[in-house]
Amino acid sequence: MDISFRAILLLLATLLLLQTLSSAKTCSDCFVSSKAAHYPNSDVQGSEIGACGFGSFGATLNNGDVSAASELYRNGVGCGACYQVRCTNKYYCTDTGVNVIITDQGSGPQTDFILTRRAFSRMAQTKDAAACLLALGVVDIEYRRVSCSYPDKNITIKIDENSNYPHYLAFVIRYQQGKKDITAVQLCETQNFVCKLLDRSYGAVWTTTSPARGPLILRMLFSDDDDETWVVPINNIPQDWKPGATYDMGVQVNK
Ligand SMILES: *[C@@H]1O[C@H](CO)[C@@H](O)[C@H](O)[C@H]1NC(C)=O
Repeated sequence: MDISFRAILLLLATLLLLQTLSSAKTCSDCFVSSKAAHYPNSDVQGSEIGACGFGSFGATLNNGDVSAASELYRNGVGCGACYQVRCTNKYYCTDTGVNVIITDQGSGPQTDFILTRRAFSRMAQTKDAAACLLALGVVDIEYRRVSCSYPDKNITIKIDENSNYPHYLAFVIRYQQGKKDITAVQLCETQNFVCKLLDRSYGAVWTTTSPARGPLILRMLFSDDDDETWVVPINNIPQDWKPGATYDMGVQVNK
């Protein structure tokens, strides 16, 4: 065999090995072992004062199958992310567990999740099993990130009630499907396309002081380990945006 051919074979083998190693490292579909607790006194809802800033929307989202996260809160980047959580006691727990959406920050004894009592109960095989799990308070679980799904919803922004037209604009992005994070948000003018990067003030709340006048183009950076993509919706934020209003952006993502 000729030397350069061997060199190429060696290179290919190395590349293949590296690829295998890196896919093992970023095994995004694998379950991770942890613990989960439940909120002390909310049967069906999450907290309306959840640290993500979703308000009452966050409390009832996903029929109340929501959760506070500790590490996975990631300074607010984790707000709105969806996880499959299943407890591991084979006498009480189902294989599928429950899908929850992060709407709050919180930690218990070594827990990654504090579920609503409703979501916590939904990990159980039966009503009696649910009562046993609730009584335990903290249980061993496995979790993995899954795609969020909002059938018949476009990405929608909700202008925060604390906004002050036209000087201070704060909003939350609702109904983001898929399993990417929104890691940056810009508002751009429709005339000259000058864009301004917004601040994540806390949780899922994006803010800017003295936003540009006129209709505004929203740009959102969707990120995961492999990819970063700017998504620009069809609809603009209208010129006369109002505190408390919601605006359908006319676009949805699926990854
Ligand atoms: C989503 O946006 C599209 C336009 O891009 C619109 O035709 C559709 O009606 C919207 N869907 C909902 C559920 O509002």
